[in-house]
Amino acid sequence: MKELVKKAIKVLESNWQGNFTIPCKGLYPFQWNWDSGFIAIGLAHFDMTKAKKEISTLLNAQWGNGFIPHIIFHNESDTYFPGPDYHCAHLHPHASNKYKSSGITQPPVIGFVLQELYRIATNKSDIIRYIEEVIDKVYQNHKYFYENRDPFNEGLVYIYHNWESGTDNSPVWDSIFEKINSPEYNFKRRDTAHVDPEQRPSKKEYDHYLHILEIAKKHHYDDEKIAELSPFLVQDPLFNSMLIKSNQSLIELYDLIGKKQENMAQLKKWQEKSIRAFNEKLFDEELGAYIHYDLRNNKSIKYISSSSFTPLYAGIPNQNRALKMVTTLIEKFGREDNYLCASFDPTSNKYNPVKYWRGPIWININWMLYKGLKNYGFNKLAYQVKNDSIELVEKIGFYEYFDPRKELYTNESKGLGGTDFSWTAALIIDLLNENQMP
Ligand code: DGY
Repeated sequence: MKELVKKAIKVLESNWQGNFTIPCKGLYPFQWNWDSGFIAIGLAHFDMTKAKKEISTLLNAQWGNGFIPHIIFHNESDTYFPGPDYHCAHLHPHASNKYKSSGITQPPVIGFVLQELYRIATNKSDIIRYIEEVIDKVYQNHKYFYENRDPFNEGLVYIYHNWESGTDNSPVWDSIFEKINSPEYNFKRRDTAHVDPEQRPSKKEYDHYLHILEIAKKHHYDDEKIAELSPFLVQDPLFNSMLIKSNQSLIELYDLIGKKQENMAQLKKWQEKSIRAFNEKLFDEELGAYIHYDLRNNKSIKYISSSSFTPLYAGIPNQNRALKMVTTLIEKFGREDNYLCASFDPTSNKYNPVKYWRGPIWININWMLYKGLKNYGFNKLAYQVKNDSIELVEKIGFYEYFDPRKELYTNESKGLGGTDFSWTAALIIDLLNENQMP
């Protein structure tokens, strides 16, 4: 196991850029928002200075309105599309004038990442000082979400682009895209030069992705206009779980540092409302899991994906409901000849075990599932998720995503997507170190 940790550290060191970490060479050559959060958790185990730097660099690119972009283009690179000149984030009046970025965001993980850094730190007073320095920025980010992404004041925030979900090409979005009449754009894909196109979104899907961006750009990334006009407007259980988990972490961290009682009080109000709305609106009794809500077309999207179980990590369901979810998880995803946990329902005809978010296993989701299941006392299943994650990486390396089918794994097997992928390495370090933690 020590060997695996050493290899993981090597991956993170080779992707380190001096003040942030790229997710993966070639395929993702800039700083990505939620990647950085997960990466910081791994860095914290062997170099807390780098972990803090990772987060600070991301927060430095925060906009004047509290928004944190999904990509920060710190450097030049011609290996990625769409780059800064396509996103044109400067169109928004509050965009950073120091950093080029996208104008869409990603799941808000930084709140709980700060709490993870506190958990991992051996020098608690140093990390408390750091948390004091940055916590208000994260609070401002949550304030941005509640004030700009919740048009009906429900306690649930929307995403307006599938790239904001982190689960880019999930079949969950298919019914939305079917309704959108996107033009055929002329552009040069870069991702498919690095990775087998079979494992990446299709051209048609990219047309939709660009079309939604074009609408946002046309309105200078104005949130009100986006809420009114974007054909993609979704309340996503993964995204809202991340916000709720991070709310809780911020509440506990404000309590720890004993400052800004008014922020803590506000967070508690958001939290109560969000958890209630989440439970009332996003749980589907028949499916036995949380699902997405299509706010543009006013209907639930009746598919189960790995996002459906991330509310366990945020402590959202009560114990009864959690048990129901676990039953669904085992029934749909738990075949003995599959590793856990596929990113999309393996019993669905839309399941594809090699294509990005349409089936393959992702280590960040497994990490959350492991923690969530354990918190509810489902220890056997929790350890199965943890052990499957470690076994996959040990067998074939630090890939971006993994085919769930066990029979495919031989000594020559390769994983899917990018190689030497940073959050895979970072979270494996965390999973392996956990037993040594006090
Ligand atoms: C990609 O390029 O696939 C990214 O996930 C978008 O952020």
